[in-house]
Amino acid sequence: MHSPARRRFLSTIAVAAAAGVLPLRPAGAASGSVPVSRAHFPQSVASGDPRPDRVLLWTRLAAPAAQLRLQVAEDTGFARLRVDRMLQPPRDSDGCLKVRVENLQPATAYHYRFLLDDGHGGQVSSPIGRTRTAPAADTDAPVELAFVSCQDYGGRWYNTLLPLLERELDLVLHLGDFIYETTGDPQFQDQAGERTIALDDIDGAIALERGGQRYYAARSLANYRQLHRTFRSDPVLQALLERTPLVAIWDDHEFSDDCWQDVGTYHDGAADERDRQRRRNAEQAYFEYLPVDLELADATGAGQAAQLPVQRERLFPNVQLWRRLRFGKALDLLLTDYRSQRPDHAIPEDAFPGALAYDQPQLQALLPRLGLEPAAVLPTLIPYVDLAAPMLQAQRRAAQHAIAQAYLAAGQSPAQAERRATQATASAIALPVLAQFLQAWNATAPASAQVAVPDAAGLARGLPWLALGKTTLFGDIGARYVAVKEGFDLFAALGALDGAPSPYAPAQRQWLEQALLDSDARFKVVASSVSFTSLVLDLSRPELQAPEPMRRRFYLNLDQWDGFPAERRRLIGQVFDRAGGVIVLSGDIHAGFATQHSAATVEFTTPAVSSETLGSILARSGEGEGAQQQATARVAAALDALVIDGNPSLRYAQTRRHGVGLLRLDGEHAQARFLELPDSVCRQRHYDAPEAIGSQLGEKRFAFARDDMRLREA
Ligand SMILES: [Fe+2]
Repeated sequence: MHSPARRRFLSTIAVAAAAGVLPLRPAGAASGSVPVSRAHFPQSVASGDPRPDRVLLWTRLAAPAAQLRLQVAEDTGFARLRVDRMLQPPRDSDGCLKVRVENLQPATAYHYRFLLDDGHGGQVSSPIGRTRTAPAADTDAPVELAFVSCQDYGGRWYNTLLPLLERELDLVLHLGDFIYETTGDPQFQDQAGERTIALDDIDGAIALERGGQRYYAARSLANYRQLHRTFRSDPVLQALLERTPLVAIWDDHEFSDDCWQDVGTYHDGAADERDRQRRRNAEQAYFEYLPVDLELADATGAGQAAQLPVQRERLFPNVQLWRRLRFGKALDLLLTDYRSQRPDHAIPEDAFPGALAYDQPQLQALLPRLGLEPAAVLPTLIPYVDLAAPMLQAQRRAAQHAIAQAYLAAGQSPAQAERRATQATASAIALPVLAQFLQAWNATAPASAQVAVPDAAGLARGLPWLALGKTTLFGDIGARYVAVKEGFDLFAALGALDGAPSPYAPAQRQWLEQALLDSDARFKVVASSVSFTSLVLDLSRPELQAPEPMRRRFYLNLDQWDGFPAERRRLIGQVFDRAGGVIVLSGDIHAGFATQHSAATVEFTTPAVSSETLGSILARSGEGEGAQQQATARVAAALDALVIDGNPSLRYAQTRRHGVGLLRLDGEHAQARFLELPDSVCRQRHYDAPEAIGSQLGEKRFAFARDDMRLREA
């Protein structure tokens, strides 16, 4: 129940449009020509979540106002008004205001503006927005949408959005990374010229360091608000949202890179990064700034100017971003939330490489359940030593000392280092890892204290984290990134025996399944912030000249759906394929893919609007000397071919260009396309001369049909 005593942070106001055209008010009425003041509305206007009878309108005021008026009209001259009413000016929401306008006609364009007193007896208007309601569910109308993701701001420009300004779109689907919470992360961000962000509330931010370079991540509400304000200052993004309704979901960077629930991953397990307050700050700013129409509160006095206060108790962990929008007979749009419910990454970033995920007795019991013969599999695994054995006490003490030293060197406190080393040597430890630490011990110990490395012969074998590619004490390599395919496949299959982990909590999982199987729409778009497309790199190819330990097949990124293989298989095979007409639209990976997941299910992964491309990020990490760096540089150079080679369901892959996706549904037919620009183009501003990018704009098209979902290049 709603109680006025509860703290409110954001008000959505619902207003009902008049059934007919409103008579123009004689006195004090705003006429069509009120001067537009972007200074009063520096983030302009936006609309979102269009439904056949309603849409959400958004604006932000630069300064508090005594009076605020909303007009919604059928015409650009605001002669045929459907709404003309005073609104409560926003409070405690950084000037942001959301108004839900109800009682509208389906598949209809509306024009809207917010009006303010200019302080000198006159009025000023916001920029005039145009929105469009969805076609009714029983209407057979074509639907065209753009799908975009990853619009990093520092040193980058949204030139890829320019072609969208020429189109009449039903909606722009934003798949996440609408903002980036870090400013100047040297792994993938630049700070240059006027596209620089310095957080004002620096005390409220998280100070981070990489390669000796200091940078910051947002933590306070003020930090996140500043980021949204800044990203929304971009005139091209404003122009797009002024003319096309937005439908948005979030990915990680709206909160924290590679996050899960309210946990960040900057320190790769070396520190506890759970931070509920930070997550809620991020969500609050998100809901203030994005025209997302969630039922975040109970309507009171619905109909006439009802206030729908969003309450903090409705934010994480209670938030429900997943929702469904319908566009005629053509499209059911299912919007999923991959981040706020997902479990931790399958391989812990702080996993000790020598610790066993599965030991020999466990494998002997479980392998037959996978249809595998233990006698065939075990010899391929890694020998391990039980350091609890009495005859290995000297080795245990030596290893414990060497491991504690390693944890100290990794920045742990003496007590933490001692605790982790004790745990690592309490029982089983993979022989190659033990050998490495015993050699470290022997290198400095007096002759009398030297210990022998146990012999591999006759040892039990198991699956240590090392077999998944984990070689450091704290790190994303072998955890979220670049995990050994063979080891991870076995690990994931064993883990799924007693229920496959899913990024969705049961309610969302059930909702998605039900919605897809019940839907009578011709096409169903599953909007997923991250890609379902598997990225497997075979680094054993001789031309890559990779150092010996790298000569195997790797999953590039387990933060995306590759980290949930069993649930992905189940969803595609048992839900998407059964529902029919399922198109997955995704982003996040800063590369473009077209994927034929099955005869019935396709996916289009959109490249980044502006964020550093996957190819460039990899090339950056291959800078410098050393065999590994040089191999990484060769991998980056051959990335497109490697990605295609590693996944037979890919029909198209590119990792070096920015771009946007377009999807058009017309009767039984569908067409998807990518509009792409080389990455160098996004480092310069082309807003005033968009024709300059025309010659560099590439296009890739795919056609398919409801009864034949096989992708054809068109
Ligand atoms: Fe991104």
